[in-house]
Amino acid sequence: MDFAGPFWPWPAPYHVAQPLYDPTLYNPNWKGATIMTDLTFVHLSDLHILPEPDDLLKDQRPGEKLRNVIRIIRNMTINPDFFVLSGDLANDGDDAEYKRLNTLLDELRDFDVPLILGLGNHDRRLPFRRVVLGEEATEESQRYYHSAMIAGLRVIMLDSKVPDAVYGDLDAAQLAWLAEELRQPAPLGNLIAVHHPPVFSTVEPLNEHCLRNPDALAQTIAGHHVHAILSGHIHYPHLTSFHETISITSPAVAYMIDPGSQHEINAKDGWGFTLCSLRGGQLYANPITVHSYDNLS
Ligand SMILES: [Fe+2]
Repeated sequence: MDFAGPFWPWPAPYHVAQPLYDPTLYNPNWKGATIMTDLTFVHLSDLHILPEPDDLLKDQRPGEKLRNVIRIIRNMTINPDFFVLSGDLANDGDDAEYKRLNTLLDELRDFDVPLILGLGNHDRRLPFRRVVLGEEATEESQRYYHSAMIAGLRVIMLDSKVPDAVYGDLDAAQLAWLAEELRQPAPLGNLIAVHHPPVFSTVEPLNEHCLRNPDALAQTIAGHHVHAILSGHIHYPHLTSFHETISITSPAVAYMIDPGSQHEINAKDGWGFTLCSLRGGQLYANPITVHSYDNLS
């Protein structure tokens, strides 16, 4: 093939004098400064931990997946400021699974930053509170929602679990609490995590499984600075607008659902997490997926 022409031979002198991207063309005030990262955090969801290391879910070991994800995060050149875990921490929600989860979470606790834990439809509140939080709770129906202020960012964890149901909802008491939280100042804004996405998925049968009262959530957050709603549950990365904010669903840690299969729910190879950062007050989210054919060493 003949490469003769204006782009050959390489490098042509004008490539040096005339870079492809000159930021001053678009922003005359640009001085070459990098955008400061305010905060970096990791969003994990759908761990589905089983009691024993060799127990299988979809022919795979969920604990091994979590340890692999933690290893990847540890090898990154970032230091997360916190972790958000948005539910389905355990697969059946019994004591043995939460004991195993607690052991695995020690590897995340080694980062010495806050772990923001939330529950999903596979979790059970009483065993979780008893084993992981060390609480003497008595009411399974008592929802587990809370908020934390981390370096000026308010991170709010909601509880959308409905006992014995795969879909979710947010009760009136929790929404009233959320409204009060959002009325308090938050210099870097608010971030909300909830297991069930408040938006439709693109795999049609999963739409039966989503949050049943997204409008109530939308009304409660209207007019407030909410960077995003972080969710899990559908087991694949899914980004879309949600009223004045965005809905970000993380890849699952345990196993992935195929977004390319739109009329039935099919598992596919892969697992992952979402790496997030606030830069200059703006949220960036990068879903990261790993596959069994990747080099995992
Ligand atoms: Fe799940």
